[in-house]
Amino acid sequence: METLPLPGDEAAGASRALVQQIVRTIAREGGWIGFDRFMQMALYEPGLGYYAAGSRKFGPGGDFVTAPELSPLFGQCLARQCAHWFESAPAAIVEFGAGSGALAAQLLATLAELGAVPDTYRIVEVSAALRERQREVLAARVPALLGRVEWLDALPPRIEGVVLANEVLDAMPVRLFRWRDGVVFERGVVCASDGPGFAFADELASRALADLVRERLAEAWGEAGAPAGDYVSELGEQAEAWVETVAGRLERGAMLLLDYGFPRAEFYHSQRAHGTLQCHYRHRVHGDPFFWPGLQDITAHVDFTAAREAASRAGLAALGYNSQARFLIDCGLLERLARYPREDAGEWLRIAQSAQMLLSEAEMGELFKAIAFGRGVPDDAPGFVTRDRRGALG
Ligand SMILES: C[S@@+](CC[C@H](N)C(=O)[O-])C[C@H]1O[C@@H](n2cnc3c(N)ncnc32)[C@H](O)[C@@H]1O
Repeated sequence: METLPLPGDEAAGASRALVQQIVRTIAREGGWIGFDRFMQMALYEPGLGYYAAGSRKFGPGGDFVTAPELSPLFGQCLARQCAHWFESAPAAIVEFGAGSGALAAQLLATLAELGAVPDTYRIVEVSAALRERQREVLAARVPALLGRVEWLDALPPRIEGVVLANEVLDAMPVRLFRWRDGVVFERGVVCASDGPGFAFADELASRALADLVRERLAEAWGEAGAPAGDYVSELGEQAEAWVETVAGRLERGAMLLLDYGFPRAEFYHSQRAHGTLQCHYRHRVHGDPFFWPGLQDITAHVDFTAAREAASRAGLAALGYNSQARFLIDCGLLERLARYPREDAGEWLRIAQSAQMLLSEAEMGELFKAIAFGRGVPDDAPGFVTRDRRGALG
């Protein structure tokens, strides 16, 4: 692994405190914890986890850049889709994991422009520090609409309107497994034997886990059969449970999820033998989840077939699935770009470059997908009009 920059003293101290907490948890659990437990603590342990603590995270001064941070065009396009759904469902938005608040600000400003301001914009945010940042961003960018924004600590019991989550599913803890010649192991975490820190350790999987893994791999590998040697990947059960729960509470309206990932056949492709786990630290992507716990993001790609199955268990219909690029183009990205004022050449160039990053296959355009589910709304979402890949979800 390339040498990564070292954190400052305060951040390093917080990470050491989190490591101690994880070490105590591992000891309490008899020397081994599942990777999902480790990831939960590394990202969400109160006060210390990556998303629970106050570090910068998003944008140029943080660890990664998300689409709404990159370009206002992203939220402007989503606004078009929301305005359409407001014609057949209540004009209300619930956004999960709202990051810096950039998407909420873009959406509210554009919906105002379209004459479709939502009555309420509720944000479900686990991080107190991010909530504060969101409030500041919204107060600065859409002061007249701040009164419509409300922060929630937990899932609302019933939802009507539009649910949004951009890059939220990838931040939910995953279980890791190793498959070898039909035998399934759960990959967990132990304290390293040769110094401070952690190491992976595999245990024979429970019957239930082994059955689930075999079922999903069989679906993906089909006739081609199993690969030779070790095959390591993830199960995003928490993301699936979240989709099913939120979908179950959506009484009328739509749910739009944007994230990176694949349909199941591609997610568990026999050649993707090392899975999709990735860590983000100061704009570097690497594969070591034990590097400075609490100071880096840990993510896994999304199995969109599993997301569709989860929504369908809660009675929601799939309204569309496509690449993020195609979705944004269908929502009018190119027309919006063409209308951008060109007097300020520097600003125009920045917007054009951000559009290129959103659309390019080599950047976010193809790996990132948009998927939508609905109840009581027509199957005519503008974001999926020209090409819809629902069929690829199996
Ligand atoms: C990669 S960030 C994306 C932030 C933002 N949506 C954006 O696009 O810039 C992932 C966010 O999801 C949030 N998150 C993860 N699980 C969540 C849950 N169950 N409910 C609400 N937010 C959650 C995290 O706290 C974090 O803020």
